[in-house]
Amino acid sequence: MSNDELRSRSLRAVWHPCTQMRLQERLPLVPVARGEGPWLIDHDGRRIFDAISSWWTNLFGHCHPRINAALADQLGRLEHVMLAGFTHAPAVELAERLAALVPGRLGHCFYASDGSSAVEIALKMSFHFWRNSGRPEKSEFVALAGSYHGETLGALAVTDVALYRDTYAPLLARCRTVPTPDTRNAGPGESAADVARRAAHALEQHLAEHHARTAALIVEPLVQGASGMVMHDPEYLRLARELCDRFEVLLVADEIMVGFGRTGTLFACEQAGVAPDLICLSKGLTGGYLPLSAVLATDGVFGAFYDEEVTRGFLHSHSYTGNPLACRAALAVLDLFAEERVLESNATKAARFTAALAPVAAHPRVRHFRHRGMIWAFDFRDAPPDFPRRVFDAALARGLLLRPLGETVYLMPPYVIDPADMDWIAGVVGEVLDL
Ligand SMILES: Cc1ncc(COP(=O)(O)O)c(C=O)c1O
Repeated sequence: MSNDELRSRSLRAVWHPCTQMRLQERLPLVPVARGEGPWLIDHDGRRIFDAISSWWTNLFGHCHPRINAALADQLGRLEHVMLAGFTHAPAVELAERLAALVPGRLGHCFYASDGSSAVEIALKMSFHFWRNSGRPEKSEFVALAGSYHGETLGALAVTDVALYRDTYAPLLARCRTVPTPDTRNAGPGESAADVARRAAHALEQHLAEHHARTAALIVEPLVQGASGMVMHDPEYLRLARELCDRFEVLLVADEIMVGFGRTGTLFACEQAGVAPDLICLSKGLTGGYLPLSAVLATDGVFGAFYDEEVTRGFLHSHSYTGNPLACRAALAVLDLFAEERVLESNATKAARFTAALAPVAAHPRVRHFRHRGMIWAFDFRDAPPDFPRRVFDAALARGLLLRPLGETVYLMPPYVIDPADMDWIAGVVGEVLDL
């Protein structure tokens, strides 16, 4: 198939996500025939560097030989079986290994298919936990201003991005937002930790008033992704954990984007030394190979459901829950972390890339240049309304995939990036900003 044929057939047959289809007709779709490491390759052999890891999923790039081999092996054994009343080794092994890796003691792993469904589960579990504990009035949620937790109705209820939320507002459950600890809000002389303490104080005031009705606080630890790679100090998580304990509110860590090394540690909560009551994982979990998510819960949460009565159990399910192929891909990802010292090598890469990006950080129209682990972001001063599209087009013309969020440009490359890639990317970003 040619690139043009693929584009026009796709516009007719496929309803693309996050897209106004009418506008898309004026903007060429990017056809992809295959992937190779950090590169996407079209039907003419043109290569594009995937600097956003395909919506933050492909930790080790595309077509990784070890993940491919694990999947090929699993294909010859078992492609799928329902997980209600049945079990299989990849699901068990993955649950055990995740429990050993996440912060705290989260030994009960509930599988689902994508990030939003993990968030739905965490919300339903929190509400049902309190109901089973004799506190059914604890039915509301708290999220941070600018939070993003997904697009299904429950997840959208705890999302605070107007573009996605406002149309569906009448359908959404009650959620209150509290101020974000966004480091960019620092006043003169204020440190990132001061901003965190100020935001935590607002959370304290909120919980003091509403704790009796509040089931859970949901947080994207350290980096709020979709609202613009908004970073905060770990102090916020420490204080939020204390407040949740004090006011009897569950703490849900949505590590769907930040998990699996993105912020420099395997999980972002580690940097604050806190353990949530529930953790949501997806995206990098399978290295971008297959849709899979997991919610891990403490003994305390699990115990509230453990009963002779069926309806006190968590009766949620998805057809593909714990799909064996997806679990095998995830196990291969964990093997890579264990055997290839990924976090150590990422620390070296991150320092190298930050140095390469120094001229970008010093660009007169760049402000709030920020970096954590394998995420880099900055805001563009006085960005015109069509800024995201202009940057996307200009970078793509040079073979680089960037997808700004409003005035924020970010880089979230696959961990297989090498120093030559870094220098080239930094050069392209600099050129694109001067257009
Ligand atoms: C923090 C966070 N939570 C939840 C989601 C939703 O995940 P999914 O798109 O797989 O439904 C996303 C997706 O970007 C996310 O970044």
